[in-house]
Amino acid sequence: MTDLSVTLGRLTLRNPVLVASGTFGYAKEMTAFVDFAKLGGVIPKTVTHAPRAGNKPPRTVETASGMLNAIGLDNDGLEHFLTHHLPYLRTLATAIVGNIAGKSEDEFVAMAARVHESRQGLSALELNLSCPNVAGGTDFASDPELTKRIVRRCRDVCPDLPLIAKLTPNVTDITLIARAAADGGADAVSAVNTFVGMAVDWRKRKPILGNVTGGLSGPAIKPLALRAVWRIAQLKAIPVIAVGGIATIDDVMDFLVVGATAVQIGTANFYDPTASMKVVDALPGALETLGAGSVCEVVGTLKV
Ligand SMILES: Cc1cc2nc3c(=O)[nH]c(=O)nc-3n(C[C@H](O)[C@H](O)[C@H](O)COP(=O)(O)O)c2cc1C
Repeated sequence: MTDLSVTLGRLTLRNPVLVASGTFGYAKEMTAFVDFAKLGGVIPKTVTHAPRAGNKPPRTVETASGMLNAIGLDNDGLEHFLTHHLPYLRTLATAIVGNIAGKSEDEFVAMAARVHESRQGLSALELNLSCPNVAGGTDFASDPELTKRIVRRCRDVCPDLPLIAKLTPNVTDITLIARAAADGGADAVSAVNTFVGMAVDWRKRKPILGNVTGGLSGPAIKPLALRAVWRIAQLKAIPVIAVGGIATIDDVMDFLVVGATAVQIGTANFYDPTASMKVVDALPGALETLGAGSVCEVVGTLKV
């Protein structure tokens, strides 16, 4: 029997396959397609302190092998999440990882404290330090000191909830930020959020997205995410959850071998909501190909 379980700091998952925030709604939308009990975990859409209407449309555009989005964290706010979405999420037979974004350091801490009070049914909390579509949003995980401080202060108010820091790739050296998250006491980092880009219609001389710029995701970013994960894993400072262009079992295995302990499926959910289940089904066979009886045996085994 293959051992698919993985441990990231204080968080243990039945298998390493999660679905990424913002690509799976609040799970209810996916009930008809997905057997949640198969997944390692579900990360619902980011919630902010107050409700947000998000950016003006168009909010998404397809580009060569990837999509650009500028949703702008459209959500109904933390209290609505706790009273309307969390009760349903708690009933699912999989790990639920909450995801929050604060507008300021203090707001992050206040939100983390509020989530901790209502943590029943939550396995962990992901701090979205990296949304590129919200003014100032990228700034948190662009600055090692700020990252460390936010993680440390959230840690202090969340003693019983594993914390995951979600990092932006839009920085010069992501390893500095990963190290800061580790120093702040995070249990793991998620790498990466979307890469800032843009698309234009030259005939109209207009940007296509209402927000002008957006975040690139999907197959186009996989090689970039792979390198980021590999570099962070080499620090051996903190477990890494890989996210960026993962859609197939080969993608999953690539990321495990370079050093990810777990993975998130993002954009692939939009064109195949069953992608996460398919990779879970294929995982034992792929591990067997490498002669491995567990996920842990292949993590970080790249021969360079
Ligand atoms: C439409 C869309 C909305 C997203 N919303 C969020 C979000 O609310 N919070 C978050 O942490 N990441 C969000 N992301 C980023 C994804 O979780 C993921 O980090 C990124 O898309 C890279 O993975 P992928 O290439 O597999 O999609 C969003 C991505 C997309 C495409």
